[in-house]
Amino acid sequence: MLETRDLTKMYGELYALDRLTLQLDKGDVYGFIGPNGAGKTTTMRILATLLTPTWGEATVCGYSIYNGAKDIRRIMGYMPDFFGVYDDMKVIEYLEFFAAAYRIKGPERRKKCEQVLELVDLGYKRDALVTSLSRGMTQRLGLARVLLHEPQVLLLDEPASGLDPRARIEMRGLIKELRNMGKTIMLSSHILPELADICNKIGIIERGKLLFNGDVQSAIQKVRQRTRIDVCVGDGRNTEAKVLLEKEPNIDEIEYKDQEDYLLVTLREGIEDGSFIADALLRNGFRLKMLKEEAVNLEDVFMGITKGITN
Ligand SMILES: Nc1ncnc2c1ncn2[C@@H]1O[C@H](COP(=O)(O)OP(=O)(O)O)[C@@H](O)[C@H]1O
Ligand SMILES: [Mg+2]
Repeated sequence: MLETRDLTKMYGELYALDRLTLQLDKGDVYGFIGPNGAGKTTTMRILATLLTPTWGEATVCGYSIYNGAKDIRRIMGYMPDFFGVYDDMKVIEYLEFFAAAYRIKGPERRKKCEQVLELVDLGYKRDALVTSLSRGMTQRLGLARVLLHEPQVLLLDEPASGLDPRARIEMRGLIKELRNMGKTIMLSSHILPELADICNKIGIIERGKLLFNGDVQSAIQKVRQRTRIDVCVGDGRNTEAKVLLEKEPNIDEIEYKDQEDYLLVTLREGIEDGSFIADALLRNGFRLKMLKEEAVNLEDVFMGITKGITN
């Protein structure tokens, strides 16, 4: 659906993109993650046929960016990280302006505009001035704008940046809705956790190089080799439980967490199933209050990968 091969962009001596190779299949939601200056916007602008690479190839639905720009623009919606809105224009007028640019004509034009406004939950703002919208609403309007021509592929550059928590959640919900509509989506962020739960694939990029490309789960495994499990027993017997569990050969390490409130058990490398802990505790008369695999801190994963732990 979308593919790049050795895509490279140089600005003078600087490699803004260094042999980037990635692939999105139909229906993929690809999180493109990297710190500022990593090359995310450069990649998206090349894919949107707004910037020519120094070398390398990129195709969207089989069309090459070199000679298929017209076709690519027809099937793609690109939302830049910053886009201007025009003063003295109402929301609905703004959309009609772009719908006209996409050559959507007659009554179909108004219908289409109303439809995308509903989709991004801005129907109630149709007659408001675009300049009066909050940042979150402006982002949603920007999204509405790139949906007008019903693109199959969406490139969203930092759609949640600068949004407050509520607006972020709304934006996430909206992206999920687009995913359910079967769109193929590439979205960028400099924050990994923001994307983890809506993406089926992620790419981690730094200084123009793709450091990781795959699903979220393998990213986690790559950085964290050992499984960690939170354990809590009843009647304040965590210390006794610790002594007992220290005899288990498949446990590597046990620490207290949150002032002895519970135990953090790290399994030996290669051991993933921690159910033997429950068996051991129950067999020895402990009341098991909690046993769960530790939630992965995606910041750690991101830091691990960008620090070159995987290289
Ligand atoms: N027009 C340009 N001229 C020179 N350098 C640029 C230009 N655009 C981007 N760069 C550089 O290319 C690198 C990648 O930038 P960009 O793709 O915008 O990163 P990101 O979107 O991940 O923050 C950065 O080092 C940036 O300074
Ligand atoms: Mg950028």
